[in-house]
Amino acid sequence: MSIYPTISDSVDNVDNYIDTGRQKIDWAASNMPILSFLREQFIREMPFQGQCIGVALHVEAKTAVLLELLAEGGAKVVVTGCNPLSTHDDVSFALDANPMISSYAAKGITDEEYYKGIEAVISHNPTLTLDDGGDLIFALHEDHEEKIKSVIGGCEETTTGVHRLKSMEAEGKLKYPVFAVNDTPMKRLFDNIHGTGESTILSIAVTTNFSWAGKTVVVAGYGYCGRGVAKKISGQNARVIITEVDPLRGLEAYMEGYEVMPMLQAAHRGDVFITTTGNCDILNKNHFELMRDGVILANAGHFDVEINIKELEKLATSERMVRDGVREYQLRDGRRINVLASGRLVNLASPLSLGHPIEIMDQSFGMQAVCMREMVVNPTYGPGVHSVPMELDAQVAEIKLRSEGIEIDYLSESQDNYLRGSEFGT
Ligand SMILES: NC(=O)c1ccc[n+]([C@@H]2O[C@H](COP(=O)([O-])OP(=O)(O)OC[C@H]3O[C@@H](n4cnc5c(N)ncnc54)[C@H](O)[C@@H]3O)[C@@H](O)[C@H]2O)c1
Repeated sequence: MSIYPTISDSVDNVDNYIDTGRQKIDWAASNMPILSFLREQFIREMPFQGQCIGVALHVEAKTAVLLELLAEGGAKVVVTGCNPLSTHDDVSFALDANPMISSYAAKGITDEEYYKGIEAVISHNPTLTLDDGGDLIFALHEDHEEKIKSVIGGCEETTTGVHRLKSMEAEGKLKYPVFAVNDTPMKRLFDNIHGTGESTILSIAVTTNFSWAGKTVVVAGYGYCGRGVAKKISGQNARVIITEVDPLRGLEAYMEGYEVMPMLQAAHRGDVFITTTGNCDILNKNHFELMRDGVILANAGHFDVEINIKELEKLATSERMVRDGVREYQLRDGRRINVLASGRLVNLASPLSLGHPIEIMDQSFGMQAVCMREMVVNPTYGPGVHSVPMELDAQVAEIKLRSEGIEIDYLSESQDNYLRGSEFGT
């Protein structure tokens, strides 16, 4: 069906990989109660019968649980990575061993190989798309217009992808409906805040083997990810400085008790710099010139554009790998600047990174699964970026609470009437 070799076609002797990948997937699956609950429904309802779901996500164990769920719901699933460094190869092999799934995802690939993976997915003629960052949907629209008419819709996982889709929509280029899954409370309030917060500080700690205690950490951006990172680092006894361009968010950070200042002022103060803006050129030569010897730079935003590595390379007299995942740039005056994971998102692209915790991805992927189903069973959405209906958030939150054995109160009839009415005053 496709001229592209899947990951398993491209190497011999994949059995060992498949075993370790399967073990990782099974561990994640047994700790994802929302996806387990949905599995029973999907097997019964088979909502994706006859559909081909094209996927570009970070391919690791939690993602695999989602993809196997979609396959159990009747879909043919075709997957590639959404970042050249974030794939776990053993998980990719284990997915490819599933007869309903083809995987093209591999770790440590060039940009050219990365885009070949996207092309490989498109070669299967997907009827639904699932993106993290928008590369798949963008390539489909740019280079394969003829295939778009058979696509029912899609879902987008992250802030940067939603921004790209909104730009495509504004330019009249987006030809099918896409749910901005990133923007749902069930995703953003947990995944972006707690997931990015926890996994970013964990990845930096294991990559460097440094303590946070007493460090000065500069977090660029006080959006959902930035506030999560700042909160979790404060809990590790570090001092946190926030940089922002949005006055409201700068004020929020200030009222939360953080120091807030421009990056040019923070540059000589920080021991560790973490970018979370989704914007380019946040750390550039003007900042590198001011930084202290031995600083650590890490990016948690989607693309590797936040730390201007080209400018750092120009300033450096030498560069070398000093530890797995850590590249040191030495400047003329002898100062050393260390960049983690080549400036790619540190919590997924560092050698030992595991991505977000399983519980968090259970929620995010629970939303993806119900949104995918909604797209198919309720094909009333026109081309464009759509907010996810609030009832889907409530459904997934309820499944999660139930799985934790937590009950909440329900509105009485009089309370419901009171909240709906306008006649009740003093
Ligand atoms: N690492 C992960 O696992 C992960 C998870 C979710 C989202 N993301 C990505 O992280 C990025 C941020 O996502 P978010 O949901 O926090 O977005 P957001 O829009 O809530 O926050 C971004 C913040 O950065 C600020 N900002 C923009 N330019 C800036 C600049 N020059 N200096 C300082 N601040 C600036 C904005 O004002 C905003 O407050 C996106 O690229 C998103 O796709 C990564």
